[in-house]
Amino acid sequence: MATRRMMHAAAAVCAVALVLFAGHIGALPAGCRKHVKKVTDYGAVGDGKTSNTAAFAKAVAELSNCAGDGGAALVVPAGKWLTGPFNLTSHFTLFLDHGAEILASQTPKWRMFTDKYKLVNGKNGTINGQGQVWWDKFHAKELTYARGYLLELLYSDSIIISNVTFVDSPSWNLHPTYCTNVTISGVTILAPVNSPNTDGIDPDSSSHVKIEDCYIVSGDDCIAVKSGWDQYGIKFNMPSQHIVIKRLTCISPTSAMIALGSEMSGGIQDVRAEDSVAINTESGVRIKSGVGRGGFVKDVFVRGLSLHTMKWVFWMTGNYGQHPDNSSDRRALPDVTGINYSNVFAENVTMAGRMEGIPNDPYTGICMSNVMVHLAPDAKKLQWNCTDVKGVSSNVSPKPCPELGAAGKPCAFPEEELVIGPSILPQCSY
Ligand SMILES: *[C@@H]1O[C@H](CO)[C@@H](O)[C@H](O)[C@H]1NC(C)=O
Ligand SMILES: *[C@@H]1O[C@H](CO)[C@@H](O)[C@H](O)[C@H]1NC(C)=O
Ligand SMILES: *[C@@H]1O[C@H](CO)[C@@H](O)[C@H](O)[C@H]1NC(C)=O
Ligand SMILES: *[C@@H]1O[C@H](CO)[C@@H](O)[C@H](O)[C@H]1NC(C)=O
Ligand SMILES: *[C@@H]1O[C@H](CO)[C@@H](O)[C@H](O)[C@H]1NC(C)=O
Ligand SMILES: *[C@@H]1O[C@H](CO)[C@@H](O)[C@H](O)[C@H]1NC(C)=O
Ligand SMILES: *[C@@H]1O[C@H](CO)[C@@H](O)[C@H](O)[C@H]1NC(C)=O
Ligand SMILES: *[C@@H]1O[C@H](CO)[C@@H](O)[C@H](O)[C@H]1NC(C)=O
Repeated sequence: MATRRMMHAAAAVCAVALVLFAGHIGALPAGCRKHVKKVTDYGAVGDGKTSNTAAFAKAVAELSNCAGDGGAALVVPAGKWLTGPFNLTSHFTLFLDHGAEILASQTPKWRMFTDKYKLVNGKNGTINGQGQVWWDKFHAKELTYARGYLLELLYSDSIIISNVTFVDSPSWNLHPTYCTNVTISGVTILAPVNSPNTDGIDPDSSSHVKIEDCYIVSGDDCIAVKSGWDQYGIKFNMPSQHIVIKRLTCISPTSAMIALGSEMSGGIQDVRAEDSVAINTESGVRIKSGVGRGGFVKDVFVRGLSLHTMKWVFWMTGNYGQHPDNSSDRRALPDVTGINYSNVFAENVTMAGRMEGIPNDPYTGICMSNVMVHLAPDAKKLQWNCTDVKGVSSNVSPKPCPELGAAGKPCAFPEEELVIGPSILPQCSY
C-alpha cells in the first residue's frame, strides 16, 4: 500500500527527476521500485484480443522518466495482454502477476529490447510468443527475414529475470547480447520439442551471466553460449565469459543441454556448469566449432550432471558447418582447450563420447573424472570415437578412448564463486 500511495504522490516527480538525473547511472537498486503503475493505467485491456502495443509503449516512455527517482515497476495483472514488440527501459521492472500472460501479436519480428538496470519478474506470469505461425512459415520456407527472439537484451547491465515463464517463442527465447551482470533465476521456458531453433537462453558476447533454477523444454539447445560468427565475430572480438549455470533442468531430444557455439568466434571463456539434470536430451555440454570460426573455447568447468536418456553424453564437433557467407577465413582456427568434466552420471545412453577435434588443430586439455555412463539396451558397440582430441581421465566408465586415456587427477573446478548480481534477489510485491 505504501508503494501505491507513493506512486500517486510521485507521478509528477518523475518528469522533474529526468532532468535532474538524466545520464546518472547508480548502483543496482537493491530494493524495489519507488513508482508503481499498472498497464491498465495506460488503457490496456486484458481480453486477449485488444492490441496493447500503444499502452505498453506509452507506459514505458512515461516510466522511463522515473529512472533517476527510484525507478518504476509496470505491473501486468492477471489477464491476457496482446501486444506487438515493445522496448523496456532503465531502472525498470516489468512485473507479471500471477495469471498474467503477455501474448505476442503475430507481427513480424517480435522482440523486446532493453538496456540498463531492468528486471522482468513476477509471480510466474507468462510471456507467450505464439510461435506456431512463425514455425509454420519457417518450415514452408516463406520467411525472407529472421524470426524474432522473445526477449532481447542489448548492451545492458545489472539485469534480473526471475519467476517468469516464456512459452512458444518464434525462435530463441532469451538473448542477452553485449550484457554484463545478468541474473536469470527461477525461469521456466517451454516450447514443443520439435519447434525450430527455440533455444532457451543464449548469452551472446556477454559476461557475468548467472542462470540458476531454470526449467527448460525446447526444440533446440536449452542453453547456448555464443560470441559472434566467423569473420564478423573475430572482428568484433567480444567474448562470452564468466558464465555460471546451476540447477538447470533440461529436456531437448534433438539438441544439447548446454552448447558452447557454434557461433564462438569472439571467444568463450570461464563457463561453470553444475548440479544440473537433463532428461531425453541429445547431449550434455557440447562444444561446436569448425575451420573458419577462429576464436576460442577455454576454461570450461562442468560438475554434477545427472543425465537420463542421451544419445551422446560427451560431444565435441570440429566440423560444424554453416558459415555466414563465402568470405570466412579458412585459416581462422579455433583454440579449444581446458575442458574439465567431473561427477557425471548418465543412464540409458546410446554412446558415451563422440569427440571430434580439428585436424592439425586438436582440442586439448580435456579432463574427465568420476564419470559413470550406463548404456541403453541398443547402445553402440563403439562407445568412444575420438579424433584430434587430447586429454586425461580418471575413474571413467566405460573405458575412454586412448586419446583421453592418460591417467589424470580429479578434474578441478574453480574454488571461488563468481560474484554476479545481488546475492539476494529483491523480493518485491506490487
Ligand atoms: C526499440 O528501441 C530500438 C533502439 O532504440 C529502436 O530501434 C526500435 O525501433 C524500438 N522498438 C520499438 C518497438 O519501439
Ligand atoms: C510456472 O508456470 C509454468 C507454466 O504454467 C509451470 O509449468 C511451472 O511449474 C510454474 N512454476 C512455478 C514455480 O510455479
Ligand atoms: C521466486 O519464486 C520463489 C518460489 O515461489 C520465491 O521463493 C522467490 O522469492 C521468488 N523470487 C523473486 C525474486 O521474486
Ligand atoms: C559460395 O560458394 C559456393 C560454392 O563455391 C557457391 O555455389 C555460392 O554461390 C557462393 N555463395 C555466395 C553468397 O557467394
Ligand atoms: C531409453 O532410451 C530410449 C531411446 O534411446 C527410449 O526409447 C526409452 O524409452 C528409454 N528408456 C527409459 C527407461 O527411459
Ligand atoms: C568416428 O569419427 C570420425 C570423425 O568424425 C568419423 O569419420 C568416423 O566415421 C567415426 N567412426 C565411427 C565408427 O563412427
Ligand atoms: C582441469 O583439471 C585438471 C586436473 O585437476 C587440472 O590440471 C587442469 O588445470 C584443469 N583445467 C583447467 C582449465 O583449470
Ligand atoms: C555486478 O553486480 C555486483 C553486485 O551487484 C557488483 O558488485 C559488480 O560491480 C557488478 N559488476 C559489473 C561488471 O557491473
